[in-house]
Amino acid sequence: MKNNELKKIVAKEAVTHIKDGMTIGLGTGSTMRYVLEFLGDQVKKGLDISGIPTSESTAELAKKFNIPLTSFKNVKKLDIAIDGADEVDAHFNLIKGGGGALLREKLIANAAKSFIVVIDKNKLVEQLGAFLLPVEIIPFGWEVTSQKIMDLGGVSKLRQLENQPYITDNGNYILDCDFGLIGNPPSLEKSLNSITGVVESGLFINMANKVLVSDDSNVQTLNNILIKEHSL
Ligand code: 5RP
Repeated sequence: MKNNELKKIVAKEAVTHIKDGMTIGLGTGSTMRYVLEFLGDQVKKGLDISGIPTSESTAELAKKFNIPLTSFKNVKKLDIAIDGADEVDAHFNLIKGGGGALLREKLIANAAKSFIVVIDKNKLVEQLGAFLLPVEIIPFGWEVTSQKIMDLGGVSKLRQLENQPYITDNGNYILDCDFGLIGNPPSLEKSLNSITGVVESGLFINMANKVLVSDDSNVQTLNNILIKEHSL
């Protein structure tokens, strides 16, 4: 099955978790694009939900598919957040941020009772780290922040778009960092987040309640029994 087909079937399955009256965190990326499309179909059929997008690009897509949006001015918690990921390990740790939206994605996942991750089988890994780890940093003194990250043993590269630094929706930069295979993701996350200038890292440590994984024949649900629904 082609990659896009794998994304479509897992997206379809994710939408079955969305019920009338829910407020939903809407993730970012190409898998989420399908989720938004399928969710839009359900809204057309009368499903009554509202969403908070994790990026400007998701906000645009949600509008295109007529998905009602709200904001944290109106709601303090979300029933569910659905999002893609770049890598997922057996301990429900994730690398996210390939699409540059990691900060809002983490904030929204933390505000949700249940965080559901949608991936295809190619993103399940034994150890995180083959995918470069995105780290959002403030632009001022980025060279210093980059050096501090290298002092932790990584090689970091400023993300570029059309020969300019890539700017996140929050006005920040992203460093894509190569730490090789990451032996201790929780410890690396702590170290990164303690560096002045780092806004947030793309390591999501044991935050996902469920991971939906598509392979050629079906969608498998991995339930994280180590965490309960987040109490808010
Ligand atoms: C964006 C993300 C995405 O969820 C991640 O990059 C996966 O994207 P895709 O579904 O396109 O493979 O973290 O910041």
